Amino acid sequence: MNETPPEGNPDRFLLSRPDFDKLAGFVNGHTGIRLPPVKKAMVEGRLRRRVRTLGFADFRAYCTYVFDENGLSQEGGFIIDAITTNKTDFFREPDHFRFLTEIALPQLALEARIGFSEPLQMWSAAASVGAEAFSMAMVANDFAQAHKGFRFSVLATDICMEVLQKAATAIYPDDMVEAVPAAMRQRYLMRSRDRSLAETRIVPELRQRVRFARQNLNDAVYAVPRTQHVVFCRNVLIYFDKAMQEAVLSRICECLLPGGYLFVGHSETVAGFSLPLRQAAPTIFLRL
Ligand SMILES: C[S@@+](CC[C@H](N)C(=O)[O-])C[C@H]1O[C@@H](n2cnc3c(N)ncnc32)[C@H](O)[C@@H]1O
Repeated sequence: MNETPPEGNPDRFLLSRPDFDKLAGFVNGHTGIRLPPVKKAMVEGRLRRRVRTLGFADFRAYCTYVFDENGLSQEGGFIIDAITTNKTDFFREPDHFRFLTEIALPQLALEARIGFSEPLQMWSAAASVGAEAFSMAMVANDFAQAHKGFRFSVLATDICMEVLQKAATAIYPDDMVEAVPAAMRQRYLMRSRDRSLAETRIVPELRQRVRFARQNLNDAVYAVPRTQHVVFCRNVLIYFDKAMQEAVLSRICECLLPGGYLFVGHSETVAGFSLPLRQAAPTIFLRL
């Protein structure tokens, strides 16, 4: 007997190669993210629930709507949000935060006297849910408490609206904030009164210092002030091809003031690019 499985034909939720190519082309053109054919299963996995929720019979019907029936203006943002990988952590790659604490901030603030007449400006350029930006803010706020008159701000940007909305709440699961050093947890985190929620919120003093906004790193011009002293652009370059990596880093350098610092992820490199940067430590660069 030929029984139809309860979910219908499972192949309905597999992408044909032409439909995958169209989706990958759209994502790459808009964001710079490369989606080689080996990512087909990942794309299917991330869009399957959406296709079902919208009530399309299969991926073919969804892609017809998106590409042939002008659905891209409605669905484009959702596809980008679904495809971006937003994994992050507080104090991820701790060497970077040690360098910020021990070298970059003392050098910028105490030697170059930045942060006293105007706030020192930091940018988390692929911020995800904001753990990186709040980690930067914790380090800078500790520095401010030890150095009277020092002020700072953090701009946190991402292409994905969903993570930016989460970031703006500044609420995180308890297990995620375990990476915050104990003394900082005391100063900068507030446990939810309702312990069944297992949630923690960043204190208002720090929330006031961090602003979230959408910035696509693939844009030709960035809406970011060209007055940054510290930029973290970590674990996003890996999704781009070499030409896009160089273009992004070049635009970031335009936003970074000479003497400022750029941090990239530990598996990322600026080697081979023609950029006004000098290495200060592994994966940390001084803007020339
Ligand atoms: C893996 S997370 C890295 C988060 C954080 N920087 C860290 O290292 O923990 C990568 C982030 O880059 C964002 N992203 C991907 N392409 C982007 C683009 N073209 N412009 C801006 N952000 C982008 C994603 O939405 C995602 O939140």
